[in-house]
Amino acid sequence: MPDLTHWPAVDDADWKRLLASARRHQRAGQSWTDAAHGKSAGLLFFNPSLRTRCSMERAAHQLGAHATSLTPGEGTWNFAWEEGAVMDGAEAEHVRDALGVLSRYYDALGVRVFASLSDRRQDETDALMQTVARAASVPVINLESARYHPCQALGDATTLAAHFGKDALAGKRFVLSWAPHPKALPRAVPHSALLMAARLGLDVTVARPDGFALDDTVMTQARAYAEAHGTAVTEASTPDAAFDDADVIYAKSWAGGRVYDDPAREAQQRASCANWRVTAERMARTRPGAAFMHCLPVRRNVVADDAVLDGSASVHLQQAENRLYAQKAMLEHVWEI
Ligand code: CP
Repeated sequence: MPDLTHWPAVDDADWKRLLASARRHQRAGQSWTDAAHGKSAGLLFFNPSLRTRCSMERAAHQLGAHATSLTPGEGTWNFAWEEGAVMDGAEAEHVRDALGVLSRYYDALGVRVFASLSDRRQDETDALMQTVARAASVPVINLESARYHPCQALGDATTLAAHFGKDALAGKRFVLSWAPHPKALPRAVPHSALLMAARLGLDVTVARPDGFALDDTVMTQARAYAEAHGTAVTEASTPDAAFDDADVIYAKSWAGGRVYDDPAREAQQRASCANWRVTAERMARTRPGAAFMHCLPVRRNVVADDAVLDGSASVHLQQAENRLYAQKAMLEHVWEI
């Protein structure tokens, strides 16, 4: 059964096929087929979404399939997650039973379940998404888990291939630039952006303040992808120089490592780095034709200035549109059509 729950589980051949398929859908634009006529997708959002929910529903519809979106606890029962739970509290249904039932109604499931940012082990092992994957008996598409956001990554790869041309990507300088934010945020998007860029053969710099390292295993995987292309993944701890001669600035906030053991200290560290905001002056250090990327939602004038988001370099709306094409490719992949 195709596995789109665990991003590195997508092998190189599938990754190339998915990207080529997403590009074909992108070139076709908003278009309809009945390739998936009679198929159905059940979409569970344990966390809020605008882009992922709407683009998955539209992707299914444009392929001739049907999609149902569910917000657990709002119009469904509340779900228990723990193995062996004694369910005498507010949760009326175990997530294992819910996934088992939904697998009998739908041909694929999509699930969003974010990092807790309080239980390090649960987040590092992507335990909730793994529980979902074990309980389902139809393919599961990860709509953002504690560690990965493959739909975003494939959409972003589609955006880069369109912006630069697929054959001109190799060696382009991609900077994943940590950004300020009033809230501690999970690492699924930066992990996936890093892996995506390294897998495309870009030369990657992770620019982030001290105390905001990404997970070691993801860095190691990204370095292996880069090595296979003869490129590299490096790190920088100041924002300005990292922007010099960059071809892509991908801005994203994520929580510091202290979030699990000392959240107050992590919040202090994050607040002290407000000067990492992406400004027009910083963008002026990049190469001509450089792209500014953000997965959205974005806090304007906190993460990046209006002048950057509304400037000619920004491709954030194309990224959002390309989610539709990426997810059409993913649905076709899991349904083997
Ligand atoms: N980028 C992204 O996944 O957007 P949503 O959280 O709105 O789905």
